[in-house]
Amino acid sequence: MITHIHDNEAETARALIERIIQLVNEHSSDHKVNIALSGGSTPALMFRLWAEEYNNQTPWHQIRFFWVDERCVPPTDSESNYGMTYDNLLCKIDLPKENVVRVKGENHPEEEARRYEAQIRTMLPEENGIPIFDIVLLGAGDDGHTSSIFPGQEYLLNAQEVYAVSMQPQSGQRRVALTGKPIIHAKNVIFLLTGKAKATVLADIIDQNDAGPAAYIGHHALNTVEVYADKAAAGQI
Ligand code: 6PG
Repeated sequence: MITHIHDNEAETARALIERIIQLVNEHSSDHKVNIALSGGSTPALMFRLWAEEYNNQTPWHQIRFFWVDERCVPPTDSESNYGMTYDNLLCKIDLPKENVVRVKGENHPEEEARRYEAQIRTMLPEENGIPIFDIVLLGAGDDGHTSSIFPGQEYLLNAQEVYAVSMQPQSGQRRVALTGKPIIHAKNVIFLLTGKAKATVLADIIDQNDAGPAAYIGHHALNTVEVYADKAAAGQI
């Protein structure tokens, strides 16, 4: 695991954007790089800076965006991960429409999980039946969750499905979530953790114990795992 600590949230976001561009540039220009994005509030600044400061140096035609997880709400809802990404990034860049493959949070959750999984399977290479993303960008919650795999839902770490329906335990909000195996098999798993509320989960990811789903992913991912964090989040390491 490689941990990158930067002074503040913006510097952390910039370092992560530069790393993603570097990973994309490692491929020939006809290769599509399949990136699964997380939502929540943490990536909003990174998305904004990506559009504002790195638009011209990003080979957008080479990038395909998918989602790690989506809340079961329409894209216009303020809770929508796609909506947040659209407002901060997608509406400001010249990314071919077909390179944005969203989870339709407005659909029936179980049907959408199956539909999205089937769509992913037509677009990504597979190894032993597991679709392989080039990059899975993860956040984590202070309760230790990642994707929308919450404590108590650890069965999703080993589920046969690529996408499954989970539930945010406090609000009961349903989510369509990428399960553990495709995350663990991704070529690059990258966590973005900023702010002091992430200090415990970051310490758990770096520690040896599988304290929660995020830590489990950090310890069991088969390829490169990187953590981008600011000093506030790194307070306990
Ligand atoms: C979501 C996510 C989720 C997120 C964490 C952290 O839809 O909520 O994709 O896994 O990364 O909950 O969320 P914050 O960035 O809002 O703290």
